[in-house]
Amino acid sequence: MTAVLAYPIIYSIILLPPPEPVCSNSGNFSAYNDPYEANLNVLTGYLSIQAPPSGFGLGSIGQNPNQAYGLALCRGDVSTPDCKTCVLEAGSEIRKRCPYDKGAIIWYDNCLFKYSNMAFFGHVDNQNMFYMWNLNNVSEPQSFNAKTKELLSELATQAYTNPKMYAAGEMELYGSKKLYGLTQCTKDLSSTECKKCLDDIIGELPSCCDGKEGGRVGGGSL
Ligand SMILES: *[C@@H]1O[C@H](CO)[C@@H](O)[C@H](O)[C@H]1NC(C)=O
Ligand SMILES: *[C@@H]1O[C@H](CO)[C@@H](O)[C@H](O)[C@H]1NC(C)=O
Repeated sequence: MTAVLAYPIIYSIILLPPPEPVCSNSGNFSAYNDPYEANLNVLTGYLSIQAPPSGFGLGSIGQNPNQAYGLALCRGDVSTPDCKTCVLEAGSEIRKRCPYDKGAIIWYDNCLFKYSNMAFFGHVDNQNMFYMWNLNNVSEPQSFNAKTKELLSELATQAYTNPKMYAAGEMELYGSKKLYGLTQCTKDLSSTECKKCLDDIIGELPSCCDGKEGGRVGGGSL
């Protein structure tokens, strides 16, 4: 088993709700005094302190077979206080949504939070992709799709060379409308892996989101 990669891409003037969290099938811990849970609690606290200043935290607590690995990533433009709020909320909510799961991932607009009993750092895995789109159709889909691809490709190139592995931007559309885009990778990836991951995700857009006013594609696995 491996794990994740890129933070979701968002493009649209209309933000979409976050996807459903994913609970892994990598094992369960017991309800009372499980050493894995103790490690997970320490890790969750650690990430809520480590991530907010830079927007990214990565860590592992304990020894095998009870070692817990985790990361927290905030969207590149989120402030330190908002990042902290999001990571705290994510760390609490995921345990309610995936009780006793040794691995899980939860996405919000402002952050993602992920943990696992498997060492996943630095691995790109596209297995748990999610696709979300706004139901509204654009009026000039061909031009819109081409511009979307152009904008996101440009942002992917910026993101993988940026220390935060993040880029956001906008582009003129027809009329007075604008197109907005965002790309980001988790910082455990190498710049090469980040670029490949984003290019793959951009290549997936036609399968969900062509001609839609908004779309979001992300990946992760547990
Ligand atoms: C974990 O627990 C859930 C819910 O009780 C169960 O459906 C699942 O099969 C268990 N998974 C493993 C790997 O034991
Ligand atoms: C968008 O276009 C599709 C395909 O033509 C259509 O089925 C759908 O109803 C349209 N959506 C809206 C919100 O008009």
